[in-house]
Amino acid sequence: MPEHPVRRRGLGTKGWFRPARGVARLLAMATRTERLELRPFAPDDGAGIFGYLADPEAVRFEPYGVPTREECDALAADRAHDERFVAVCLRDGTLIGNLYRSVEGPPTWRTWEIGYVFGPRFWGHGYATEAAARLVRDLFEVEGAHRVVAACDVRNERSWRLLERLGMRREAHMLQAATFADDEHGRPVWHDSYHYAILEARDDAPTTTSPTHHFSDVIDRVEHEHERVTVTRNGRPR
Ligand SMILES: CC(C)(COP(=O)(O)OP(=O)(O)OC[C@H]1O[C@@H](n2cnc3c(N)ncnc32)[C@H](O)[C@@H]1OP(=O)(O)O)[C@@H](O)C(=O)NCCC(=O)NCCS
Repeated sequence: MPEHPVRRRGLGTKGWFRPARGVARLLAMATRTERLELRPFAPDDGAGIFGYLADPEAVRFEPYGVPTREECDALAADRAHDERFVAVCLRDGTLIGNLYRSVEGPPTWRTWEIGYVFGPRFWGHGYATEAAARLVRDLFEVEGAHRVVAACDVRNERSWRLLERLGMRREAHMLQAATFADDEHGRPVWHDSYHYAILEARDDAPTTTSPTHHFSDVIDRVEHEHERVTVTRNGRPR
């Protein structure tokens, strides 16, 4: 049976806390993409976290509110020892957001969940797609994932559009799947959520009765998307 997660409505956990399981450490070293650096968090990242998380829009769909500067210092200290969180920086070192990844279910399922939060002033540049595409690629190629999943509030269109840019497929619309607050009468306010997934790209992946949907079909397109957008915006042909 899958391990049951422990509910913890805390800042650092996306709402659900699952203890580390000794999986191989992904992104233990800094990794570069075309425009970004992906690295582990450091204990002195508090100011940087505050820089992208202090905008209410950044946490609108998260199970926590805007953190104080002091809470961001505590987050940095926690995340420096938590391999589920990956810091995303511009090449000049500015911290613009974070990725999240954790094992879902028993190890034999080889299933990972991903998440992400970027500062609103860094939206609209393709940074989240660029960073998350690298994360998903490494989950398949380094960690040997079979399936990568993500969930988001149905109202969070930027989030589910990002998941679709990654080639993930909407597998479910879960009704009243989550609650993070009560109304004035003390009743839970429920939110619907979309669940997305993408399957491994290995040639020897087992066949099933389900239609398959593979990351290799989309990774090249995602990794070169920013070049296409740049060319298009400059008014030159694609
Ligand atoms: C979800 C989230 C990361 C998406 O951010 P985003 O900026 O929309 O996504 P990207 O960084 O991939 O940028 C894509 C946009 O940049 C544009 N873009 C501009 N320059 C680009 C370039 N050089 N390359 C690629 N895309 C580019 C794309 O066309 C696209 O624009 P569109 O939104 O008009 O379609 C962001 O909204 C967020 O952090 N939200 C708060 C936290 C949250 O809700 N997390 C999810 C919880 S489930």
